[in-house]
Amino acid sequence: MQVLTTIDSCRDARSRLGRLALVPTMGALHAGHLSLIELAHQHAETVAVSIFVNPTQFGPKEDFKKYPRPIESDLRLCEQAGVDMVFQPAVEQMYPAEPADLMIDLPSLSTVLEGKHRPGHFRGVCQVVAKLFNIIQPQAACFGEKDYQQLRILSAMTEAMNFPIRIIPGPTLRDPDGLAMSSRNRYLSPEERTKALSISRGLFAARDQFASGIDQTNRLLTTIQHALLEQHLAIDYVAAVDAKTLKPVERVASPTLLAVAARVGSTRLIDNVILSPQ
Ligand code: PAF
Repeated sequence: MQVLTTIDSCRDARSRLGRLALVPTMGALHAGHLSLIELAHQHAETVAVSIFVNPTQFGPKEDFKKYPRPIESDLRLCEQAGVDMVFQPAVEQMYPAEPADLMIDLPSLSTVLEGKHRPGHFRGVCQVVAKLFNIIQPQAACFGEKDYQQLRILSAMTEAMNFPIRIIPGPTLRDPDGLAMSSRNRYLSPEERTKALSISRGLFAARDQFASGIDQTNRLLTTIQHALLEQHLAIDYVAAVDAKTLKPVERVASPTLLAVAARVGSTRLIDNVILSPQ
């Protein structure tokens, strides 16, 4: 496995590889990332992983400094997962001067849900992913459905910018108790972890309700809210939106995203389920 830290060496290494699938990450790899690497192997002969905690997608009060960076174990996991190339640049490599005065934004998708609570977040995500696409030039890129809005925005960006890259979604991986895997779960104390389970419990209860024939989203959202409030979570949003446009819907008449963002202590967690009518 080659580990490259500069753009020039990465381009050079990449030019000697054939069809390639990229898994962009911020490191602190867990089984969810490993499942994306496995998915990437199914779509190309070679697989690259980028590990870069991107400062431009963190707000001033967010956890950029404290974000976990266990690079040794990340590289070990990549090696074990059969990754061919890791791109692990320093911030100065990706942003040598002030970040260029260039914005890639899809406001109708990026100002709702997460975007409302984390202004500028998706601009930072689009900026870094567009740079990674240009540097690594993959034929495919894998993103997890846990960050559904990110996946949707990056798919729209790829289409709008004519990047010749296939975006491949990977299903959310969960611990056996239902908690969606996230690098931020490691911040949770055992007590907070128990409270955090109310997020998946609420989403699954709403999914069951939908399966039993209830398609009014206000009823599904109430179910989720009850589960969260029972455990005293601070809710940022609980929403039902069209899975393509991310606009609120009153009934599940087309694929619909039920999305939650809530804080347990100082840790902010997101999760979702997608409901598809028959
Ligand atoms: O999902 C993430 O880990 C990040 O947002 C991404 C896509 C690697 C961009 O920094």
